[in-house]
Amino acid sequence: MKIVHNPDEMQNLCLTYRKAGDTIGLVPTMGALHDGHISLLTAIRQQCTISVMSIFVNPTQFGPNEDFAKYPRPFEADCARAKENGCDIIFAPKPEAMYPQHYATYVNIETITGKLCGMSRPGHFKGITTVLLKFFNIVVPHAAIFGQKDAQQVIVLKRMVVDLNCSVNILVAPIVRETDGLAMSSRNRYLTSAERAASVALHKGLAAAEKLYAAGERTAEPLIASVAAQLSKSDMLTPDYIELVDTVSLESQTRLTATALLAVAVRTRETRTRLIDNTVLGGCL
Ligand code: PAJ
Repeated sequence: MKIVHNPDEMQNLCLTYRKAGDTIGLVPTMGALHDGHISLLTAIRQQCTISVMSIFVNPTQFGPNEDFAKYPRPFEADCARAKENGCDIIFAPKPEAMYPQHYATYVNIETITGKLCGMSRPGHFKGITTVLLKFFNIVVPHAAIFGQKDAQQVIVLKRMVVDLNCSVNILVAPIVRETDGLAMSSRNRYLTSAERAASVALHKGLAAAEKLYAAGERTAEPLIASVAAQLSKSDMLTPDYIELVDTVSLESQTRLTATALLAVAVRTRETRTRLIDNTVLGGCL
């Protein structure tokens, strides 16, 4: 497994692989790898001949009061895990190589980035689309894979590749969960034991909504209420949003006629950790 830090070197290497007829698959991550990240690597290896995992805690997608400084960075352990799981190349640039002095270019997707997580994280998606367009230009991947866990991120990136004519195929992988149902996340390690115990409510609520949907419920209100009911069982979780939205426009839906995203975000009481989870009803992203 190669480890590359320099963006120019990475671009030259990837262009060489492309010329040789390889197909390049990209797994963008911020590191602190868990089984969810590894599932993306496993899936991309089935689609492409060269797998690239980027490990970069992207400063532009963190707000001023967010966890950029404390975000875990276990780089050696991440490399070992990626290698064990068949990764061909790790791309781990330094922030100053990605955003050098005089850096001035950002990609801003309108409308859909102001909804759901965008309401409480202004600028978050602008940081994500900017870094991903840079990665697409550096790694020139045929495909890039993302987790449904960050559903709005997937929807925003799909919008970007269509709107900006990017020649990369966006793949989406299912949410990998702990045995009790909590969606895996690098941020779960911040949780106190009381918060960790309470946080299973997100998945419980979504599972209850899926059951209602399977039984024929197509009105938003009871689907949302079944998530709210689970969250209200503990005083450890404050809902940020529980919304049922269209999977392209992110417009709120009152009645389901097509595929819809039921998404939830909470903040925990003790460590103020933000947790998100979702389910897609009637289709996939
Ligand atoms: P990060 O949170 O490290 O996640 C990297 C990828 O792993 C994302 O596509 C995310 O959706 C996926 N992922 C996270 N938890 C998952 C789970 N439990 N099951 C399946 N997939 C999961 O998302 C980011 O980093 C960044 O925003 C990034 C795209 C790298 C841009 O900086």
